[in-house]
Amino acid sequence: METPIPTGLITALRTARHVTILTGAGVSAESGIPTFRDALQGLWAHFSPEELATPEAFQRHPRLIWEWYAARRNDVQAALPNPGHLALVALARYVPRLSLITQNVDGLHTRAGSSDVIELHGTIMRVRCSADGTTYTQWDEQAGLPPPCPDCGAPLRPDVVWFGELLPEGALIRAREAAMQCDLFLSIGTSGQVEPAASLPRLAYNRGAVLAVINLDVDDRVQGHYYAIHARSGEFLPRLLAATWPEAA
Ligand code: OAD
Repeated sequence: METPIPTGLITALRTARHVTILTGAGVSAESGIPTFRDALQGLWAHFSPEELATPEAFQRHPRLIWEWYAARRNDVQAALPNPGHLALVALARYVPRLSLITQNVDGLHTRAGSSDVIELHGTIMRVRCSADGTTYTQWDEQAGLPPPCPDCGAPLRPDVVWFGELLPEGALIRAREAAMQCDLFLSIGTSGQVEPAASLPRLAYNRGAVLAVINLDVDDRVQGHYYAIHARSGEFLPRLLAATWPEAA
């Protein structure tokens, strides 16, 4: 049974000057990437992300954490963007201005063709020196696990935000501006449990933007009148696009 598309949302999308989108792991679920609140697969089943995705864990078990991210990077590289990612690429061609903010570190929005993605939590497709923060998109795994920084020799680490760490300042500023300036905010595939990303939909809503939450466990965390849509992003987003711009079908 397909979730009906509210006509008010179609109108809001068709007339929007600036659409801001926040995505979470749910948008990559249909590409086969496990979400965070799903049980971790296989070797990591007895760990929780909160135990592994921390500076302390990297300090204590650098090789284990490096290999956990290497395994996730391999899974991501084997995955393909799904129709939900692709619908957001197409959407950017129809709205005057689109800001795409993601909490995902899988790089799938970029691989799908979205440009200028605001990666609030970084990306596993990049690493950085754990000492001076220099980032690298290529590295030599033969040199050790984790590899040493080619510049100073300190261990390289994934260029992602770990629990307890600050978000990249530039990305957070851009994300907040996009939430404040948009007239339509779509929150897609996120449980809204991690700040400061979780406050972005409310920021937009309180500034008078139309808000739609597209998720599989839609909740009423945002009080008031907004569109709560229980749907899979890979199925709903292409339908929303086609219903708004039939030529997009
Ligand atoms: P979660 O795993 O917390 O939530 C994923 C959400 O997507 C859930 O609400 C699911 O119901 C929903 N979902 C699953 N499949 C879906 C689908 N096909 N279509 C639409 N929705 C679907 O992941 P995030 O909310 O992204 O942070 O988690 C936010 C942050 O918490 C992550 O970025 C990570 C994690 O700790 C850091 O690592 C810093």
